[in-house]
Amino acid sequence: MKLRKFFVVSLSFIFILCISSLLNAKTPVSMEERIEAGKGLFQAKNCSYCHSIKGEGGNSGPDLSKWESIESPILWAAIMWNHVPGMIKTYDEKKIAYPDFEGEEIAYVFEYIHSVAENKGGAIAFPGEEDTGSFFFQYLGCKLCHAAKGEGGELGPDIANVVNSVKSDGEFAGLMIKHAPYMSRSAEMQKMLWPKLKGNEMAHLFAYFKSLKK
Ligand code: HEC
Ligand code: HEC
Repeated sequence: MKLRKFFVVSLSFIFILCISSLLNAKTPVSMEERIEAGKGLFQAKNCSYCHSIKGEGGNSGPDLSKWESIESPILWAAIMWNHVPGMIKTYDEKKIAYPDFEGEEIAYVFEYIHSVAENKGGAIAFPGEEDTGSFFFQYLGCKLCHAAKGEGGELGPDIANVVNSVKSDGEFAGLMIKHAPYMSRSAEMQKMLWPKLKGNEMAHLFAYFKSLKK
């Protein structure tokens, strides 16, 4: 079973690498290049403002080289999503720009963190189910603002249009993180609790979104 997960993760990884190399010559291709890009982004996106790596950097968050790092873009998306309400206040107070991640940049950051982690957990693939994702879409209030297959709110874009451009778990993670500050502010205004997501819940949502692709 573990071996199978390993293969699924490695295969999707190879697939992502092929796609990104086809799309853009400047996209980091090898794992070394991705990790190097992640290291730069960790600084550029102000993660280092609060986090240190091997004792170097800020100290209002944990030293991420000591964090038990798991290899799973979907889980990283969930971790960052849950992290937003805690992070955003400081970004606002210090007037530092909230990190905008393009393409798979957030995956590079986590690949960098993983490469320096003293405590490496395994790779986890979360299987997602469309129907459960559709349930969460409603349950988490996404549908109040977003239509899916033409049915739902109109404040945000139709999710089918959004997912058409998304090619990997890493890109999906980037989109969710980009969107989180908007959600966080509107949740605060409506005195709503932040909808924290577990890894498998994020996977269900993504499986549902993928099923909407035109
Ligand atoms: C404003 C300060 C701040 C910034 C900026 C910040 N973090 Fe954090 N981070 C924290 C704090 C505090 C915690 C511990 C409490 C929590 O999880 O919210 C944490 C926890 C984490 C964790 C561990 C989560 C867990 O579940 O154990 C990860 C991974 C992480 N941050 C990654 C990042 C990355 C990547 C960035 C840059 C995109 C970033 N952080 C930017 C303050 C920050
Ligand atoms: C209060 C209204 C509201 C709710 C609730 C809401 N969204 Fe959004 N969403 C928007 C708006 C407005 C945009 C476009 C502006 C933006 O990206 O912030 C958007 C954009 C997005 C995007 C595209 C981001 C991009 O940069 O292209 C995704 C993905 C998304 N939402 C997913 C979700 C999910 C998943 C949920 C439920 C957990 C959700 N949204 C809940 C209003 C909402």
